[in-house]
Amino acid sequence: MDETKHKAVLWHEALDGLRLSRGDTVIDATLGGGGHTLLFHSAVGKTGRVVSLDMDQAAINRFLLRVKSESGLASAMEEGQLLLVHANFADIGDVAEDSGLVQVDAIFADLGYSSDQIEDESRGLSFLKDGPLDMRLDQRSGETAAHIVNVWPESSLAELFFEMGDEEYAKSIARAVVKVRKEHAFVKTLELAEVVRQAIPARVCLKRKTHPATKVFQALRIAVNDEYGNLERFLEQSVHLLTPGGRLGVISFHSGEDRIVKQFFRRMMKGCDCPPEFPVCVCQKTPKLKNVSRDPIVATEREVLENPRSRSAKLRFAERC
Ligand SMILES: C[S@@+](CC[C@H](N)C(=O)[O-])C[C@H]1O[C@@H](n2cnc3c(N)ncnc32)[C@H](O)[C@@H]1O
Repeated sequence: MDETKHKAVLWHEALDGLRLSRGDTVIDATLGGGGHTLLFHSAVGKTGRVVSLDMDQAAINRFLLRVKSESGLASAMEEGQLLLVHANFADIGDVAEDSGLVQVDAIFADLGYSSDQIEDESRGLSFLKDGPLDMRLDQRSGETAAHIVNVWPESSLAELFFEMGDEEYAKSIARAVVKVRKEHAFVKTLELAEVVRQAIPARVCLKRKTHPATKVFQALRIAVNDEYGNLERFLEQSVHLLTPGGRLGVISFHSGEDRIVKQFFRRMMKGCDCPPEFPVCVCQKTPKLKNVSRDPIVATEREVLENPRSRSAKLRFAERC
């Protein structure tokens, strides 16, 4: 296994926004290549603690290789300043409890996939490299992308490509997929990418700035990894884990994720969720989060030049009341 190739995005901004101090406890819900984790570890120092999760065992193993070769990191792990957990962030409440944490000073998530995962063709996440149609981040369980494209009814595929991928040719693509699978099952990524390309009119493919299969692959990754469901469960539990004044930061990479984060923050800032026609509040809910900034933080031009992946990153913060 090689060293990570993943470059952390918005790292100055993440560190500034979380306002970490020496001795703080932080949960990094998405270890990935470990860039943010290492940054938080140096910010909270030896008296602090960073608990980092990833649902991909390969990300944890890659980070452990680095730990082996850096004595400072190895002793941080031995002394409990740094803890790695193979878990879904949707279970952050249980992870915190198992790690002996009641409340934490900051929680951070950098959603999506690392460059290591995208570039590893055996994961089947990319339409540029031929690999098995798997796409699962946690390979212990769950439906693969092959299952979805080979088994789901045409109407469900069309709905998935449209709803999760914003693909305007969703229906034609679903029809083409079903036609091919009557002959043989889809096994590899490049064949699917080619069927998608052929189902979209050539003039549209030429006009698009991205690969014609981008949207369909995005939709499949979202469904395979239940990205939206996991994000919602993570946000709900995180609010209750934060100490008053503690901050929650989330980096998203597509509009569906960002919408979930934005709407969740808004709901938690409002508190009361009584219907507007009620003359007085009966739910007695109070705001749980405070606004930190209205607009999301995006990468500077310089960062985008140095790391094109940062182009679509949006970072939002909220503070526990
Ligand atoms: C963009 S990378 C994180 C990069 C990291 N911040 C860094 O500095 O290298 C996203 C990581 O989150 C992990 N991930 C995605 N969804 C997850 C979930 N529901 N639970 C836990 N980890 C998840 C992925 O496996 C991936 O390693």
